[in-house]
Amino acid sequence: MSGKNNGLFSKLEGIVGKEPPLKVLIVAAESSPFAAVGGFSRVIEALSTALRKTGHEARVFLPKFGFIDEEKYELEMVFADLAVPTGDEATPNLICNVKKCVLPSGVTVYFLENMEYYEKRANVYGYSDDPTRWALLSRGALEFLKRLPETEEFLDDDFYPDVIHCNDWHTGVLPNYLSSYYNNDPKLSKVASLLTIHNLYYQGLFDPQNISELDFDDGKSDVAPFFSEALNKQNFMKRGIIYSDAVNTVSPTYSKEILTQEFGAGLDRLLLEVRSKVYGVLNGLDTESFDPATDKVIEKNYDAFSLEQRTANKVAVQKEYNIAVSDEIPLIGFVGRLDQQKGIDLIVPAMKYLIKDFGVQFVQVGGGDLTYTEQFRELKSAFPKNVGLHLLPNFTLPRLIFAGCDMILYPSKFEPCGIVQLEAMRYGAIPIVRKVGGLADSVENFDPKTHKGTGFVFEDYDVIAFYGQLVRAVESFKHKEVWRVIQKNAMRKDFSWNKSAKEYAKIYRRAMEFHKKSSVSHVSSFGM
Ligand code: GLC
Repeated sequence: MSGKNNGLFSKLEGIVGKEPPLKVLIVAAESSPFAAVGGFSRVIEALSTALRKTGHEARVFLPKFGFIDEEKYELEMVFADLAVPTGDEATPNLICNVKKCVLPSGVTVYFLENMEYYEKRANVYGYSDDPTRWALLSRGALEFLKRLPETEEFLDDDFYPDVIHCNDWHTGVLPNYLSSYYNNDPKLSKVASLLTIHNLYYQGLFDPQNISELDFDDGKSDVAPFFSEALNKQNFMKRGIIYSDAVNTVSPTYSKEILTQEFGAGLDRLLLEVRSKVYGVLNGLDTESFDPATDKVIEKNYDAFSLEQRTANKVAVQKEYNIAVSDEIPLIGFVGRLDQQKGIDLIVPAMKYLIKDFGVQFVQVGGGDLTYTEQFRELKSAFPKNVGLHLLPNFTLPRLIFAGCDMILYPSKFEPCGIVQLEAMRYGAIPIVRKVGGLADSVENFDPKTHKGTGFVFEDYDVIAFYGQLVRAVESFKHKEVWRVIQKNAMRKDFSWNKSAKEYAKIYRRAMEFHKKSSVSHVSSFGM
């Protein structure tokens, strides 16, 4: 499949939009369907598909982890024995292959294959040499592009990116390599870069909040060699912010929050300094895959006009978790990692009182931090008939929970975007969220006077503030007609990716303009 074969719709877009279609290479540590640990893996798949649908050619560049099934995805060799420079004298190059597959959506995905760093690893993250693994991905993508014109692949379909789109700290070092080592390459020197911050909290292997002054990375030195201790102490996220032509976060509110000390994770001053190149685009939702009218995983399909059918799904959830079957009891769900970011510190104490005084049911799915696992277990032993636990990640159960639960909790401390609230709204499960990041941008507090709103929203990170909205939700639930209005409001919200993909196209073009003017020269002190 080639970039020329975009179909009628996209050709029209190209004509109507006047500006030529963009060519983008999205580089990421993971993307569904191949590897899906973090929420951002779904963004990579959905964004590349939506860009393609809106007339652009977006391709994805990933590591070839051992668990990615070569036969199933019909991987083909594009470049064998690609030598990726390491900066290390003893081992100057790592030899990799680049393979590719074309997804049914038409999106081409390239894989960087290396036995030692990807193939042999059972997990995506969590190794002491992760900085080397991600430096390899970044440098490997650039080296591949440098050599791409030599390949038949290139002669075949003429794909060369206008922009490289990096994601989170793992590929943060790529714009640094690009501007330091490829600025004389006739093609690569013209390529712009965008860094998307999905989560500013993670900046590299070292905990940037607790780094000693001696180890502080000002971002000005060369990227350290692959196998040196110094690489582990370099702040990949910071370098991405400095050297990329544009930066964006996954919601407009988070893009402003990160300019403050509270949310800036130590990089707020740098971000303030470069704020003219910082944007915010709300993530979208894959509305085809997440559609209660067609979802094959849930018990019974329904839409906004047949909400009474949801009951079958509620019953299925109650049976799955072995709690009382009843349509009248409010069923409240939590889907997500057990991580302090997600506000579990508010959920456990609030649920204790809500179950006791209102008799609600609570179910969760997702694993993580053992402290929270323990707290949920205690909640279950205090209220065995009202609480259902699934303390491991699961890919299908969330959908049943969205289809069957009445409410979904999302009281995050910070939330760059959040996808669960979008999925929940699409299925008519009403989100109860804290007004931060993407949650503030996507959930509107219900107003009983105007009947507007799609959920319940509280401001302070505080059990009382959260509890207040929980009680409002439980009381509103008793009025079936009112509840139906909230559900319909939520289900009718348009969070499709097309809107966001158009925003990304604008940012890519800005990055290309900035690149021409070379934005790096504007950064004077690197936020020090
Ligand atoms: C990270 C963020 C989350 C965001 C996701 C995708 O997981 O924590 O808020 O929705 O990335 O961008």
